[in-house]
This record gives sequence, C-alpha cells and structure tokens, in this order.
Amino acid sequence: MIAPGRRRSFQRRVLAWYAINGRDLPWRKTRDPYAILVSEVLSHQTQITRVLPVYERLLGRYPSVQALAQAPLADLKAITDPLGYKIRGGWLHAAALRVADRGGVFPATIEELCRLPGVGRYTAGAVMSFAHHADAPVLDTNVARLLRRHFGVVVSPRARTRQLWDLAAAVIPKGHGYLINQALMDLGALVCRSRAPRCNVCPLRRSCAFRANIRQGSSRPLPN
Ligand code: ADE
Repeated sequence: MIAPGRRRSFQRRVLAWYAINGRDLPWRKTRDPYAILVSEVLSHQTQITRVLPVYERLLGRYPSVQALAQAPLADLKAITDPLGYKIRGGWLHAAALRVADRGGVFPATIEELCRLPGVGRYTAGAVMSFAHHADAPVLDTNVARLLRRHFGVVVSPRARTRQLWDLAAAVIPKGHGYLINQALMDLGALVCRSRAPRCNVCPLRRSCAFRANIRQGSSRPLPN
C-alpha cells in the first residue's frame, strides 16, 4: 500500500520528532495493562491535562485490578464522573470485575480485550501495544486525521475507516509498534491539529498530501 522507501522515511521522521518532542506522560512509565486500560478509558474524548490528576487519584486509591473490582461503584464514580462522559466509571468497574474473575490475568488478544465492557478496537489496540508491546495499530482521532491528511485518503467514510486502520498497521516498523503509536498520537495531538495544523513545524510536511494541497491553493481542498 505504501512503497517501502516512503514508509521508512515516514517512520524515521516521526520517530526522530518524537525523540525530541514526545510528552512525558505517566502511563508511558508502565506496562501494567490495568494502568494502561485506565489511562485510555479516561483519555477518551477528554483533554490530557484533565486526565492526569484523575489517573493519579484512581491508581493511588485502586492500585490493582482486584482492588478496583472490590471497590463500591459509587466510590469509583466519585473519582471519574467529574471528567464527564460518566459511563466510564461503570465500564471500568465492570471490566475490572471481569478480569478479577479470570484471576486477575488480563486478556492479551484484541478479540478477548474487545469483550471487556467499554473496550473497542482502539482501546484494545492501545492495551496490546502499550502494555503487551505487540505491533497492534492504535487509531485514535488524532492519528486518523494525521494519516488521512498525510496520505490524502479521500474515499467514502465507510471505506475510509478500514483504509485508515490498514494504514495505521502498515506504518508500524516491525517490533516498534509501541514507539510509533505513541509518536503518532503526540504528533497528531500537538502538530497535526484539527483546526490549526502547525505544518511549518511538522516533520512530515515535505511528503504530506494535505499540505501540498494547501500550498497549491487547490480550489478543491482535501477534506480536513
Ligand atoms: N491519549 C490517550 N492515550 C494516549 C497516549 N498513550 N499518548 C498520547 N495521548 C493519548
């Protein structure tokens, strides 16, 4: 789908950018699938700066999946509800109960993870990649926008989702899924922003279809 030379160049530039600009986030210091699951569920549709104190409070109070499974749901919700999108406390609690039922052994395949309450393909990919260090694609909104813009994906919305997951898998250097996924998430969030993309500081600007389109002043710009 992507020529090998183009893929390597993309990977090299993304990883070099990340080595200098990557964010220092607490869930990047752990490989505990429970902590990763908590971080991803809390980060959904929520700004990272708001997630950080809640993540610390939740893991301080419930340091293991067993501890969370034994907690009264109301106590957990008192921690998570202030973030909004209040269904998350219930999902986390139900997922913790399910894992505790398995003797605390976390699922380690996409399919099994997707059977946990509140866990879809994105969250399952994140746990596989960030906890189990598997080369699983992780396509959040920011990564999807970056890939769509860079590779100029203009197919229909339904075909697009499939194509973007394929692209997210195709850009993973073998054995380095963890790094490239974290890097793409930061590049998408900090540089390839939705409304005000910072193309002038983007390491991918020379090969980006979206940027080329803007510079040519196309009368039919690529979708944002
Ligand atoms: N949002 C959710 N998970 C994230 C991660 N691992 N890195 C950056 N942003 C995120």
